[in-house]
Amino acid sequence: MKLQEAMDLYLPLIEGELRACMTPPADDPSPFWGMMHYHLGWADEQFRPSQAPVGKRLRPLITLLTCQAAGGDPHDALPAAAAVELIHNFSLIHDDIQDQSDTRRGRATVWKLWGEAQAINAGDAMFTLAHLALHRLSQRSLPPERIAVALRVLDQTSLALCRGQHLDLDFEDRLDVDVEAYLTMIRGKTAALLGCACQLGALIAWPDLSLAEHYRRLGEGLGLAFQIQDDLLGIWGQPDVTGKPVADDIRRHKKSLPVVYVLGRHDDTKAKRLRALYAQGALLEEDVAEAVAILEASQARPYAEAQAQHYLETALAELEAAGPKPEARQALRELAGFLINRAY
Ligand code: IPE
Ligand code: IPE
Ligand code: MG
Ligand code: MG
Repeated sequence: MKLQEAMDLYLPLIEGELRACMTPPADDPSPFWGMMHYHLGWADEQFRPSQAPVGKRLRPLITLLTCQAAGGDPHDALPAAAAVELIHNFSLIHDDIQDQSDTRRGRATVWKLWGEAQAINAGDAMFTLAHLALHRLSQRSLPPERIAVALRVLDQTSLALCRGQHLDLDFEDRLDVDVEAYLTMIRGKTAALLGCACQLGALIAWPDLSLAEHYRRLGEGLGLAFQIQDDLLGIWGQPDVTGKPVADDIRRHKKSLPVVYVLGRHDDTKAKRLRALYAQGALLEEDVAEAVAILEASQARPYAEAQAQHYLETALAELEAAGPKPEARQALRELAGFLINRAY
């Protein structure tokens, strides 16, 4: 199956499962649900139905495809796909507060519209809904012991994600972040959830923990490549395509891979200048432009692109080692390629 065929087939099913997990009780049409529906692209600021961007839905698509690749029926993995997407969106609602980001997917963020307190609450509700989504596996006749394993994997992943976010925020005020520390940070904040998306798909297909571990490593490698591409887009992406302001990661002093690469070249004059810019606190627009010019002159962009390619290849080797069913193999390989060639 080609990726486009998989998207045509599975994205409507994923949307249906998410809606089923997010239906307000009939007596509660309140903004409590409206804010979450707004974030997911289903409602506008007045909570009327809307056609806003819903996100790429990469993680739930990967869960269905890994379930199929591991020999299962992808329909059985829909509750896990919804759970993973809800954890992702919980993390984005909170991340936008943590990063003080005004826009997400080209629209105002939840905290920007309704304040930080309500956005924390909406994120917490979505975290809880992710767990309730996973409990729907019992309607797909999955044995209770396997549902318990799936819940534990989801919680271990959420903990890893929070630890990664902790490091990401901690690194904002530091200049001593090396590539190893960076990798630990993105393994947590991004790669853990992609690993979980793949692991759950495989676990639902087959009760073989070692096969699921191959798929977890596939997802982790994809997640590392995906986050490095996100770092590249965070500096060189087109704001009208990414839905985020240009060079925002630089403005926030984020230790993304291109920055970490240059900061690590200790005796280099360009690295010294970058360190001096970051040490001065708030960056003016000309400082941001100078920082980007330093990254370009230091070849940080091709370095990061090569790293993304490396982690993608590692991930694809894990996929082959898992012996995927041919129905899902092509779509998974195409999807992997998209992760590092995407512009949004
Ligand atoms: C954005 O993820 C956050 C990161 C982990 C880098 P996506 O780019 O998958 O977000 P959406 O859901 O498609 O908007
Ligand atoms: C991505 O965060 C990871 C999580 C949200 C857990 P980033 O801060 O790097 O991603 P964007 O750029 O806001 O999407
Ligand atoms: Mg962040
Ligand atoms: Mg962010």
